[in-house]
Amino acid sequence: MAKINCIGILTSGGDAPGMNAAIRAVTRAAIYNGLSVKGIYRGYKGLVTGEIKEFKSQNVSNIIQQGGTILKTARCKEFTTPEGRKIAYDNMKAEGIDALVVIGGDGSLTGARVFAEEYDVPCIGLPGTIDNDLYGTDTTIGYDTALNTILDAVDKIRDTATSHERLFFVEVMGRDAGFLALNGAIASGAEAAIIPEFSTDVDQLEDFIKNGFRKSKNSSIVLVAESELTGGAMHYAERVKKEYPEYDVRVTILGHLQRGGSPTAHDRILASRLGAAAIDAIMDGQRNVMVGVHHDEIVYVPFNKAIKNDKPIKKELVNVLRALSI
Ligand code: F6P
Repeated sequence: MAKINCIGILTSGGDAPGMNAAIRAVTRAAIYNGLSVKGIYRGYKGLVTGEIKEFKSQNVSNIIQQGGTILKTARCKEFTTPEGRKIAYDNMKAEGIDALVVIGGDGSLTGARVFAEEYDVPCIGLPGTIDNDLYGTDTTIGYDTALNTILDAVDKIRDTATSHERLFFVEVMGRDAGFLALNGAIASGAEAAIIPEFSTDVDQLEDFIKNGFRKSKNSSIVLVAESELTGGAMHYAERVKKEYPEYDVRVTILGHLQRGGSPTAHDRILASRLGAAAIDAIMDGQRNVMVGVHHDEIVYVPFNKAIKNDKPIKKELVNVLRALSI
C-alpha cells in the first residue's frame, strides 16, 4: 500500500455544529502523526475547482466553539459525474494529497465511496449531519446541538401555547429520519411526534387523537419531522382545521436555525474523538470506512453499511413518548 504523507479534508452537504471541531481534530491529529494536511474548500466542489490550501495547526485555532464550517460546504453536481471526478482526482494528485477525510451525511459519504472505488483513493468518512441518520454510529456530529436548539425553541413555544390554550405543530428537520422529532418530543415533554418512519403504516394524527390526546390538557405540542413522507406541519394543521375544528391550531417551522449555533459539549467531544480516530484509521491502513461511536467505543463502519442500511428508530422511544404524554 502506498505511503500516505498528506491528507485532504473537506466538509460536504448540509453543515452541522461540530464540523469545525472535527476539522480541528483531523488537522491536529494528522500533524501530531507527522502527516501534512490540506483543507479543501466548498466540499467536493473545491476538489474540482482546485480550491485547496495547506493547513497548519494555527489554521484550526479558535474554531472548536464555532458552528458552521470554516471550509464552507456545498452539494456538488459535477462530482456526481465521471468527468467531474476525473478532474477532482487530477487536482488531488497535483496537490500531493494521498487520502481524503470527508465530513458529511449520507450523500457526502456516497460520493466518497464512489470516488474511492473509481480511483483507489483511501477515504475515511466522519458522520456530520444533524439528521443522525447514518447507520453504525450512535449519534452523528451536530445532532445533539440541533436537538438542544429544538428543545430551547419548544420550551418557548410552550409558554405561548399554554397561555392561549392552543395546539401547536412544530416542524423540525431530519430529512427522512425522525430522530430529531422523536427525541425532541421526549425531551421537551411534547404530546406527540409525527415521524417519517411510521408515515406509510399509520395515520399518525388519527392515532394520537384516538389515544386520548389532550384529554386532560388545554394546550398541546406535536413535533413533525419535515419530510415528503409526513407531509410536514402545515399539512397536519390543515387537516386538524378540517377534521377537528374544535382545536385552535398554529404552526411553527424551525427551519435552518436548527443547523446553527455553538456545538454542545457532546458534539465537540464526539467530533474530537472521531477526528483523531480518522487519522488512526489512516495510519493503520484502513480505507473506505466511516468512523463512528457505538456503546462509547470507536467503530469503523464500511461505507456500504453506513449508507445503505436504514438506522432504526427504537420502538421503546415511541412507547416512552406515548406513556409520558397522557
Ligand atoms: O441533511 C441536513 C438537512 O438540514 C436536513 O435536515 C434538511 O432536510 C436539509 O438538510 C435541508 O437542506 P438545505 O439546507 O439544502 O435546504
